Amino acid sequence: MTGLPASLRVARPPRKPPGTASQGLGVTRRLDAWWLAPGVQAVLFTVCATYLFVSGILLTPLFGTPYEVDGYLSPLFSPLLIWPDMPTWLSPGLLILWIPIGFRATCYYYRKAYYRFYFADPPGCAVGEPTVHRRFALENAFPFILQNLHRYLLYLAFVPLFFLWIDVIQGFGAWDGGTPIHTPFQGTAHPQIGLGGELLLVNTVLLTGYSLSCHSLRHLVGGRLDCFSCTQARRVRYTLWQRLTDLNRNHMWWAWTSLITVTLADVYVRLLQAGVVTDPVIHIGS
Ligand code: FES
Repeated sequence: MTGLPASLRVARPPRKPPGTASQGLGVTRRLDAWWLAPGVQAVLFTVCATYLFVSGILLTPLFGTPYEVDGYLSPLFSPLLIWPDMPTWLSPGLLILWIPIGFRATCYYYRKAYYRFYFADPPGCAVGEPTVHRRFALENAFPFILQNLHRYLLYLAFVPLFFLWIDVIQGFGAWDGGTPIHTPFQGTAHPQIGLGGELLLVNTVLLTGYSLSCHSLRHLVGGRLDCFSCTQARRVRYTLWQRLTDLNRNHMWWAWTSLITVTLADVYVRLLQAGVVTDPVIHIGS
């Protein structure tokens, strides 16, 4: 390689610098339980992610398990993409889940979290990491350079979010024009409040908060400006940026609560469908 002209040499991506923390996995002077938070997060994240993967992608092709009941559609399958001769080995969830999975996997907060608990990179502030990390280019090379797709996944994430809001509206009505999931807003709605509808609502509110509190969105709205008050459009952007900043301060909270509720919403639809629980419903005006 060294004999090649400079123009033909492939630049080697920069490696991770050693940093200032003590070297060696877990080496630290910290006396607190620094491992507790990443430990709890690792368990929670692994349980939810594994469940969502199995439920959204494997359950239906393997066992034909339905993902909708009484007008409630599991959020893992929204928008519902199906067609008459769809192969049975293909889960409709797979056709849409790649967006929220990619969005979460590249999220700045989750990156910090799972780099800690899965890769010990580093395991905590002022806690040593394995020296083997210095051999890796991390986000400078494949596959982690794909983390840069986060902004584009943010744009896409608003598509399923839009349909989740439609599901919420449909979940608060008993429709006499057919199955609402397959023929949205057909017939007459009889308003009702059911636990399933409330769960879908809370889940969608939290998913909306998670998307709106995204660091990338905040930068998109208020970044690359050197004057916030020069024009009316910039003043509007500044106001929006302030609101998004308020949400962004709690991005970690939005991330965990929405992950838990999306899991619970799917569990609830599955249990309802299996007849394990019944949906407590109040019919309004009847
Ligand atoms: Fe977390 Fe964008 S940074 S969703």
